[in-house]
Amino acid sequence: MQLFIDSADPAVVAELAATGLVDGVTTNPSSIAASGRPLAEVIGDLCELVEGSVSAEVATGDAAAMLADGEALAAIAPNVAVKLPMTWDGLAATRALSARGIMTNLTLCFTPVQALLAAKAGATFVSPFVGRLDDHGGDGVALLQEIRAIYDQYELDTDILAASVRSTAHVRAAALAGADCATLPPANFRGLMEHPLTAQGLARFEADRLTGLKR
Ligand code: E4P
Repeated sequence: MQLFIDSADPAVVAELAATGLVDGVTTNPSSIAASGRPLAEVIGDLCELVEGSVSAEVATGDAAAMLADGEALAAIAPNVAVKLPMTWDGLAATRALSARGIMTNLTLCFTPVQALLAAKAGATFVSPFVGRLDDHGGDGVALLQEIRAIYDQYELDTDILAASVRSTAHVRAAALAGADCATLPPANFRGLMEHPLTAQGLARFEADRLTGLKR
């Protein structure tokens, strides 16, 4: 499963990419606004930090406006994935961008049928929002499982990009559900390595090693 960082902060992405384990980046209008910088500038910086895709979201509008916006975003770098909303216009723009060989990411997916439509439109990625669906009383992991089953049933090759991931448990569930990728906030990525027994075990081994050296 590919691991993406959900951040518009190039310094943070660079730090995490140094692990060699970061496959891509996702941004959204909220993270770009929080960066305080122009969208094109941030996306350009992020695209230099990872080999994989960097999702950059279009401004909402009709299909023609989103197509034009998407083409402009794709011109920033070859690894831009144009992020589009789960609307009929978003699907139409996805079809047109895919036909031009541009990567696309259908965002704000909350039902398996929306994911089916995204795949039929030729989306490169579909982003089911696991955490937000859980917050709303739904079952984000079941959503991933059902999309996986539908995509496998019909041999649809859109990648399932688990989004709105809030915990290591979400990453585990996404991996078990067969998600192709998961995008994680930086703190959650760092947390993947943490377990108290690992820390305790390391401390114990180090203490024993030092004791052994004294003999
Ligand atoms: C990524 O593409 C999404 O924008 C992101 O995962 C949303 O996460 P949130 O629900 O925690 O805001």
